[in-house]
Order: sequence, then structure tokens, then C-alpha cells
Amino acid sequence: MSPNIKALVGRELTDGKVSRRYYSEDFIAELKSRADIVSLISEYVRLRRTGKNYVGLCPFHQEKTPSFSVDPDKQLFYCFGCGQGGNIFTFLMKIENLTFQDAVEELARRTGLPLPKAALDPEAARRSARAAGIRKALEFARDRYREMLYSAHGAKALKYLQGRGLSREIIDLFQLGYAPAGWDFVTQGALKAGIDIRYLELSGLSVRSRRGTYYDRFRNRIMFPIWDTRGELIGFAGRALGDETPKYLNSPDTPVFHKSRELYALHLAKPSIRSKGRVCVMEGYMDVISMFQNGIDYVVAGMGTAFSVEQARALLLLSDDVVLAYDQDEAGKKAVRRCIDVFREAGGRSRVVTFEGAKDPDEFVQRYGGDKFEELIENASPDIRFIFEEAARSTDISTVEGKLQVKDIMIPVLAALDSEFEISVYTTELSRKLDVRKESLERDVELYRRRARAGTRGYKNPKNSNTTGYDNRSRSSGKNHSVQGSIALGRQRAEEGIIRALVEKPELIRMASAYLDESDFAGNMCRFVYTNLASSPKLPEDHEVSSWIAEICAKFGPVDRPERVLMDCIRRLKEVRLRELREEMKLVQEAQDEQRLMAILNEYQELLRQAKSTRGDDYDSFPDDFPGREEG
Ligand code: UTP
Ligand code: MN
Repeated sequence: MSPNIKALVGRELTDGKVSRRYYSEDFIAELKSRADIVSLISEYVRLRRTGKNYVGLCPFHQEKTPSFSVDPDKQLFYCFGCGQGGNIFTFLMKIENLTFQDAVEELARRTGLPLPKAALDPEAARRSARAAGIRKALEFARDRYREMLYSAHGAKALKYLQGRGLSREIIDLFQLGYAPAGWDFVTQGALKAGIDIRYLELSGLSVRSRRGTYYDRFRNRIMFPIWDTRGELIGFAGRALGDETPKYLNSPDTPVFHKSRELYALHLAKPSIRSKGRVCVMEGYMDVISMFQNGIDYVVAGMGTAFSVEQARALLLLSDDVVLAYDQDEAGKKAVRRCIDVFREAGGRSRVVTFEGAKDPDEFVQRYGGDKFEELIENASPDIRFIFEEAARSTDISTVEGKLQVKDIMIPVLAALDSEFEISVYTTELSRKLDVRKESLERDVELYRRRARAGTRGYKNPKNSNTTGYDNRSRSSGKNHSVQGSIALGRQRAEEGIIRALVEKPELIRMASAYLDESDFAGNMCRFVYTNLASSPKLPEDHEVSSWIAEICAKFGPVDRPERVLMDCIRRLKEVRLRELREEMKLVQEAQDEQRLMAILNEYQELLRQAKSTRGDDYDSFPDDFPGREEG
């Protein structure tokens, strides 16, 4: 299985820790027949009937006129705006960010259909039992901690929380508690309540000493429960009451808790994130709680670890307006800078809040109130502008040195952008702010791109380039070598043919770009040359590139009608992609990954549409061996 597919098949297969549950076709079919896609989607989208379908505003992208359509007969949804589509399971997966199995279980719960017991394979059953044991231990501890907070032992802790402006309501919403100072409060209590020491240790609540005895990890700390997206308890953070270190002690990663995956308070914030179409990301647990206290409830935090692409994707699924409100110190600024790249890498954008007069959002709302903070959120700078503002703050941009300094920071940032439109917008803005000609900046961006790609980390090894935009798809290299081989050959011919036509007549890049973008090329050199041509009609002057182009020209001989060659090769490239998708589909089916299957189906349908527009005939049917169709 290619790394690409592996990643997409999801976490169950790769880390082997999360349980993988199998449900029979019969059960899935029964669930489908019981549930109704219109009523499910109505819980999220206001639907209006038109003819036999329903339409509404798409929950997966922002729009003002409805292009989201639900077909009750086929039990499918489709958005003509953003191309998202699928069945009742896909909808739940996308909107709630669930795996297929999770979606099945959630739907079963909502329709009241009991889950079949035999659904688990033995290994998965073991894991699921283990997770349940861990969860019970965590829940036991959480309940004890909460009792303790309101007991005499917790008086100081409670006072501390109240001193930080938290009401009883908010303390209870976040289920805050207190772990008393002894060594075995939770461990002994849990053992007495019949909880197995194995689960206490696995959950990270109890630590085994060298002598083989067990003691509590969390002692004399204010306890912050941590939940997953669905609101299941998965761990804790314990804050010291005074200056002890560490300030926050977190549960270790456990079979149910993965710091790089979870987002603090997401299950509480989700409804508001969805209704406001906005999510605000902060550094600290206390920042989030303090926002809720002040009426801002679309706020989440990371886990005190570097923000991951996985976390970013989870948020981007819910909202495309991501606002970062990090601490205003150096560390916070650095973290924001990384976070900006992470959101770009995840395929989205972010905006950044800056403020003065407080070190973090918590302090800010305490001092100036929630309304003032919402104003900041409202006016947050787009990521690229933030980077400029930061660069400009540390220097005097009216001087030549200052201009150069800012330019040196901004050019790589601009060069890494995916969208030519964005580059144009920001070079215009930058040229105004630095008071230099836009063309000179554009040239620098272009030069930078060429150097970056022609350099050791350019086309020769694009995987190592850490830019946010130039993500190259890794192609399938599965077991079926002859099929893969012929696909690869066909792909190479098509890609090189496109380049050959473009070398002959560079103006054709406009025609080509109506059907292609750089991510369609698997060949590094082809992609490199294509991208260069897309930004300038002149061919790159690099020696290696020129000799490669010469080789291509020799291979193809003279080209009489480059338009024709171009369109032919584009069509062939799309066909190759269709074949690749069919191959990938087989693998994904073996792995029973319905989510990826739906994604492939979407891409497949989209490609069929494009293929039709490049040729205009017999493309509208699926091949006979095409699996996974919804309706016959
Ligand atoms: P901060 O030190 O900014 O904490 O760390 P905070 O949220 O402002 O806390 P208060 O206001 O002093 O109570 C931000 C985040 O970094 C992680 C936690 O996730 C914390 O919320 N962190 C910090 C740790 O995991 N361990 C630490 O020792 C400190
Ligand atoms: Mn703080």
C-alpha cells in the first residue's frame, strides 16, 4: 500500500491502537433503511423542498445562495458549490469529523438501532474493552476530583478558580476538580471501587514505583478534564496551585489520549463554531475557559504541544475562518508562526489576533471584557499580513535596510503560496507598504521560486521542501507491478507530451491551466517546468532543466499542432488518473475504508466530468468493474 493510501485509510490501520470495528453489510443496510438523510441533514442545515429534492446552504463551505442538494430517493447529498457529496454516513463523517465506524455507531444511537454484539473482531474487541476500562477509571477520578473541589480539602483550589474569575456554572461546565495532596487518593479509592490497577496505570492516573507500589500521578493540583470530539473523557491536565513545576502536568499519551490529535473543549465549542462559522484557537486551557466565562464560546486550544496538521484539518472541516489568539510573548509569536504554516499545509488559512495591555487572551478579557476581545477577533489580520506586520515592527521600513529586511522575510512566504491570486494581492499590498514597485517584488518571488526548486531541495527532492504549498501527491506503488508500471509509463508520456506542447507554444499555458494544475504532475521535472511556465512564459535557465527539455524535444520530434498535442495529452493524463483511482479503489476496498472510497468516488466523478469536457463523448458511464456505487 502506498504511503498516500495508508495515510488516507486512517488511523485505525496505521497506529493499530484505535479499535477497528466491523459491521456486517446487513446491519449497515438496515441502518440505512431506518435512518433518513433528509431528517439527519435537517439537524444541521435548513432545507427547503424543491421538486423531489431538498436544497439549503452548504455546511461544508461558505455560501450565500444554496447549492447544497439532498435527494431523498437516492438518500444522497451533493453540493454543486464545493463538490462534497455522499450518503448518510459520509455526511455524518464529514460534519462531525468521525471515522466510518464512529458514524455507523452514532447513527445507530440516533435511530435507536442496537449495535450487533458480534461486530468486533477479537483484537478490536480487546482494544475496545481496554478503552472502556480506561474510561471508567478516568470517570471515577473525575467524579472524585469534582467532589474534592467542593470539600474542605479543595477550599484553596476553589478560591483560586474563583479568584481567576470563574463562576460555579463555568467550573461545572468544564468539570474542574481538585486532586488532593496525598499520594494515593485516587489509586486507593479506585481499587476499593473495584477498578483494576491495570486500567489505572494505562490511563496514566497511577504510576508504578520502583518498589512495585502505585501512587497518584496528580497530587495537589487543579484538575482539567480533557475530552475527545464526542465529549468522551480521555485524560486530564493538572495545574499547580502555586509556582511548583511543571505548571501543568498532563496525562501521558494513552490508548485513548493522543495529544497531537485532540483539541481542548472542541465538543463544547462545536455548535457555536458551526453557527458562527468561525473558530478561535488559543494556547492555554485557562484562556479557553475564560473565554466561555466571557461569552465567547467558539474557542479551542491545543494540548500544550505543537499544533498538528491533523488538528488543523479537524478544525478546517468545521469552519474556514480560523483565528489564532496566542500569547503575546516571544514564545507565543513563534508558536503562531508555526501554526500559520500548519493551517496552510492543511489546505486552509488563518488569521491572527494581536493586542497590547495583556500577556494572554485570558488576561485581556478579564481586563477589557469579552466584547473588546470579539472586536479583536473580528479584526484579526490574515496570516500573511500578520507576518508582514511582525516583520515591520522590528525595523524601520522607511529606510532601505528596513525595506530589505522585510522583503527578505516576505519573499519566501509569498513564493510558498499556492494561489497566484493571493500572491498578487499580497505583493500589491507589500509594494504599497514598502513603497516599492510591485513588479520588482513579483520578480523576486519568481526568482526565489526558481532557486528553491532548482536547488538541492527543489525538484530533485521536493518531499524535503518545507514550503506550505508544494505538496506532491505520492503515487500508488502497490503489489500489481505490471498494472502500476503501465500506468506510470502512460502518465509519464502524457506529462511529457504536455510539456512538449507548451515548450513549442508557451501561450498555451492558459489553455492548459483550465484543465490542470501543478499537482496533476507526478514527475518532478514536469511539475517544475509546468509551474515555471505558469508563472512566466520564459523557460527556466537552469542547465539541468534545459538539457531535460532538449531531451523531451528530441523524443517527440517536431510538433505541428501543439494545441492538438496538448489536449490529447491532457485527456490521456486524466485517463491515467482514472485508472490510478480504480487501482487505488481496489486497495481501499480491501482495507474497507469507506471514507477514502467516497473521496475517490468524488474525485472520479469530477474527473469524468472533466474528461467529458476534453473529449465530449462516451465518458458518462462507470466501467463495469467500478466498485462502490450507491445506486444501481
Ligand atoms: P501557559 O503557561 O500560557 O498557561 O501555557 P496558561 O493557560 O496561560 O495558564 P495560566 O493562565 O497560567 O493558568 C499554555 C499551555 O501550555 C501547556 C498547557 O496546555 C497550557 O494551557 N503547558 C504549559 C503545559 O502543558 N505544561 C506546562 O508546564 C505549561
Ligand atoms: Mn494564562
